[in-house]
Amino acid sequence: MKIHYLKKMAEIVSLFLFVPSILMAKVPKDLYSPDGKICIRFVLKAGQPYYEVVYQKKTLIQPSPLGFRLDEAPPLMENFSVTDTRSDSFDETWKPVLGEDKTIRNHYNQLIVTLRETSTLHRILILIFRAYDDGVAFRYSLPEQPNLKKFQIISEETRFNFAGNYTAWWIPADYDSYEKLYHETPLSKIKAVNTPVTMVTPDSIYLSIHEANLTDYAGMTLKRVKRSASNFECDLVPWPDGIKVKTRTPMKTPWRTIQIAARPGGLIESHLIVNLNEPCALKDVSWIKPMKYVGIWWGMHIGKWTWHEGPKHGATTARAKEYIDFASAHHIPALLVEGWNKGWATWWTKKPEFSFTEAYPDYNLNEVVQYGKEKGVVLIGHNETAGNVPSYDAQMEKAFALYEKLGIPAIKTGYAGKIIPKGQHHHGQWMVRHYRKVVKMAAKYHIMVDAHEPIKPTGIRRTYPNFLTREGVRGMEYNAWSAGNPPNHTTIVPFTRMLAGPLDYTPGIFNILFDKTGKHRVHTTLAKQLALYVILYSPLQMAADLVENYKDNPAFQFIEKVPSNWDETRVLKSRIGHFVTIVRRRGNEWFLGSITDKHPRLLEIPLDFLNPETRYVAHIYADARETNYFTNPTAVEIGQYQVTAKDTLPAALDGGGGIAVRFSPVRGKTEKSLQSIQYFRKEAGEKMKAFIRTSS
Ligand code: NOJ
Ligand code: CA
Repeated sequence: MKIHYLKKMAEIVSLFLFVPSILMAKVPKDLYSPDGKICIRFVLKAGQPYYEVVYQKKTLIQPSPLGFRLDEAPPLMENFSVTDTRSDSFDETWKPVLGEDKTIRNHYNQLIVTLRETSTLHRILILIFRAYDDGVAFRYSLPEQPNLKKFQIISEETRFNFAGNYTAWWIPADYDSYEKLYHETPLSKIKAVNTPVTMVTPDSIYLSIHEANLTDYAGMTLKRVKRSASNFECDLVPWPDGIKVKTRTPMKTPWRTIQIAARPGGLIESHLIVNLNEPCALKDVSWIKPMKYVGIWWGMHIGKWTWHEGPKHGATTARAKEYIDFASAHHIPALLVEGWNKGWATWWTKKPEFSFTEAYPDYNLNEVVQYGKEKGVVLIGHNETAGNVPSYDAQMEKAFALYEKLGIPAIKTGYAGKIIPKGQHHHGQWMVRHYRKVVKMAAKYHIMVDAHEPIKPTGIRRTYPNFLTREGVRGMEYNAWSAGNPPNHTTIVPFTRMLAGPLDYTPGIFNILFDKTGKHRVHTTLAKQLALYVILYSPLQMAADLVENYKDNPAFQFIEKVPSNWDETRVLKSRIGHFVTIVRRRGNEWFLGSITDKHPRLLEIPLDFLNPETRYVAHIYADARETNYFTNPTAVEIGQYQVTAKDTLPAALDGGGGIAVRFSPVRGKTEKSLQSIQYFRKEAGEKMKAFIRTSS
């Protein structure tokens, strides 16, 4: 009787356990952000998983399917039932080694849904959803299981069915490059995009789609689904054989991220991407430091010097010493020297071969390093591979060991050109592995990394903070030899590419009209170049011009003083593609950068971010009355005024112009007697009249 009773109970319990999962299959699961504004909803519809995103009762993403198609195995996207759901919450505050803010709160609610196929294979797929106050994310987890061991993904079926034909800022999808100009169009005008792709709904809600923790997986691009206006599907970057991801269980995909904010600046202030990465994997991080650097670099891009040896060779011992002297005198702690190593003559051949340890005869590596040591300037080693990854792979460890021995604490890598072996792409799984290998190996030898032609950042800097920065953007170099970057480029980049992580844009060209033929120029004023040091975050930040163009120019003081790492960041009023103002704090000093597109603009910027108890000196570097974007872009008005948090800064920006300000607490008699900001205001109206007259 007793046994019978227990058996009956067991049946009831199992029935009980079973019934809710069936029920759950019909009942959507809502996961809310801690502030309750954002909801990501999981739904299982006819055996297929979907998600949906709602912001303050407005649907942003309509039900969108999830799953995979596999090679030589049935797809993992249908015939599922829910076998388990769990929810939990997490709240911690952590300190990044380097970053835009000194502390970061990682606060989310989580829902983990376990799905099991009802068909013969009974494979298990786990979906992990997270809701933060600044967006949502989800990833797939495939645990070890009998019917899924080694497998190949031919398509990740994740979709983003946007609830409207939102206005988007995007660059076209490309498996090898992010060096592009942004478009602003409705979603329906897009074919395929790289991420981050940023958009705004008709109700002025801003969202950006990207990915976090891209580890041993292919990079994601998004393709518009045929015959739909605003449905997008994940299109992973393939291997040469067309397979997208070669993997085995247990595995987890990168997070699919949707940053959401009520104002554009909220996207920049968000920490969603880094929060979705693993904590720092390095025990000792004392050697990881932010740095500014000058370089033997721009000279090659404008054709004054060459990378390869010969009469115009840029990387000579003498020039490196001259650059070190300048850096040392101006508190710039590092120097990049490109074209120092053997192999540049092979760059444009089918099989470029560089040596990463042997210098050209006119460049004495040891002597330069030694000279730098005496002057307090370190070298940044340059490793251009031109895409020949196997050759770099073979030399890497030996090269890094040499750099560590010499005391070279950082490298800039490069992958210009097609990847060898043929058919591999910069953004495919094979290269994702390579970029990670480089950063791990570099950590072993206490080397910081700045990757050019990289895989996009996905927050890996949290785990490997020696991955200081990277390119992956159409940077300054384009102004040297192409139609260049139009004035609105850097008013979009902060809201798109920069959401992914730091960028080595290489600002700071002072000789704006460098090309006497008039064919090329930098499409900004000089004041805007200064503002970019605050707008664009990079813990490794370049002063990109030839040092001769900095000598005796008082505007260089701003570059000397501006930090490349921050305690606090705030984005003030901005409009994507038109203007942006960012303020960042380091210690008790604040820095402000404000830039505009091609239109002159008068911005009234309240200084209420300053400490209300403190009086500050505003060291202002602004477009001057005589600044003219076309004929006199280098004129800068430099002045010092007293301000408090109650003041408003009248920023008169020329078309393509900007303003850069350093706010330091008032010290000493001279500073105490400085005039008030009203004197600067007087000039603003007059300047605007001049700017409007000359802009066309
Ligand atoms: C492309 C990089 O982006 C650039 O900075 C570098 O100078 C060239 N490749 C040569 O390595
Ligand atoms: Ca590049």
